[in-house]
Amino acid sequence: MKYDFTYYNPTRIHFGKESLNALEPELNNYGKNVLLMYGKGSVKKTGLYDKIKASLDACGKNTVELSGIKPNPGYAQVLEGARLVRENGIDLILAVGGGSVIDCAKAVSVTAYCEGDAWTKYWIDGEDVSGRIVPVGSVLTMAGTGSEMNGGSVVTNEDVMLKNGRVFPPSVYPKFSILNPEFTYTVPVYQMASGIFDTMSHLMEQYFSGDDDNVSDYLLEGLMRALIVSAGKAMQNPNDYEARSNIMWTATMGLNTVTGVSKTQDWEVHMIEHQIGAYTDCAHGAGLAAISVPYYKYIYKYGISKFVRFAHNVFDIEISPVSEDETALKGIEALGAFIKGLGLPDNLRELNVTADMLKPIAESCVTGGGYYDMQADDILKVLEAAF
Ligand code: NZQ
Ligand code: ZN
Repeated sequence: MKYDFTYYNPTRIHFGKESLNALEPELNNYGKNVLLMYGKGSVKKTGLYDKIKASLDACGKNTVELSGIKPNPGYAQVLEGARLVRENGIDLILAVGGGSVIDCAKAVSVTAYCEGDAWTKYWIDGEDVSGRIVPVGSVLTMAGTGSEMNGGSVVTNEDVMLKNGRVFPPSVYPKFSILNPEFTYTVPVYQMASGIFDTMSHLMEQYFSGDDDNVSDYLLEGLMRALIVSAGKAMQNPNDYEARSNIMWTATMGLNTVTGVSKTQDWEVHMIEHQIGAYTDCAHGAGLAAISVPYYKYIYKYGISKFVRFAHNVFDIEISPVSEDETALKGIEALGAFIKGLGLPDNLRELNVTADMLKPIAESCVTGGGYYDMQADDILKVLEAAF
């Protein structure tokens, strides 16, 4: 562990089949006015909405609703939520859904009492949060992003075709998150796979940077192995409780920042996907899947020993005594097979990317990376290889 760090994570996690029992005690910690946020309707179909509404009523809350939060939440919905918070004197924002709803809830929390234009201040200029932060709590219905235990908030501003992520400090993290793996049984298989690959990408993007002997790298290898095994089981039987609970906790662990301490990190795959998402509105994990193999083939030579280690420690590939390249490439091919096994796209055309989009996407991405400093022309080459 080469670099100093301070680690603090304030989110209280309630995990398991009975975890929704924790909702009422949590609600009692806040004032009367609650903004209930959810997506386009899955919570009503699954019956979760009724249970949550019953708890809100039992706790005597005045509940205001903001529904229809779309995957890849838009800034217009953030502004709508911020208005509801101000007009109703909201004491708690309760997000029920996947990463999109929770990200949007955090965005509403910091936007409601922000002076000036929050988009520019927080998602473009990355300024510190000023103004009151409204507490957020979550009930997670889809595993993948880690938003339930971090400060991430990814918002799409359709007016300027930008999907920008912002990592807010612990004061913005959910105060509590309820994780019942059974709530994820109804997630469509494609979305489940997308969430699984999102988690895999978080683990890889923390892993593929730095060459030191870091505890985080060992943790990341363990989490990747657990995810691969559990993903195989969940694809066979989506109602396998142990597999779904392993996936859910791996997703949380994968981006609650504990595995990234004292480590340089990459994140360029995410930066590229965010712009693919801005242009196509694709499922986040599917976008990551389509570009990962071309991206890693493009950069592996610059961090070859780590790619050899990945092939061996994550995918059990025998180390070639003569060629580091051979082992590294076998590891990347195993990653490609994992993506295929999840039924996710290995090319951009399947995500409705058209040839004329490649250049604008490449030119609008945040540049950077881990082993190799990706610039717009490098990103274009990766996109062309993924097309
Ligand atoms: O809208 P509803 O009807 O609820 O349907 C959702 C949505 O269509 C559905 N779904 C969720 N739970 C369900 C369910 N359907 C049936 N049963 C359930 N139990 O799944 C669809 C996708 O939901 P969404 O919340 O969009 O998925 P995800 O959790 O993958 O979130 C994606 C968003 O999170 C951002 C992504 O960029 C994207 O905008 N990210 C947030 C991060 C963070 N906060 O740290 C990091 C990630 O890298 C990521 O960028
Ligand atoms: Zn992600």
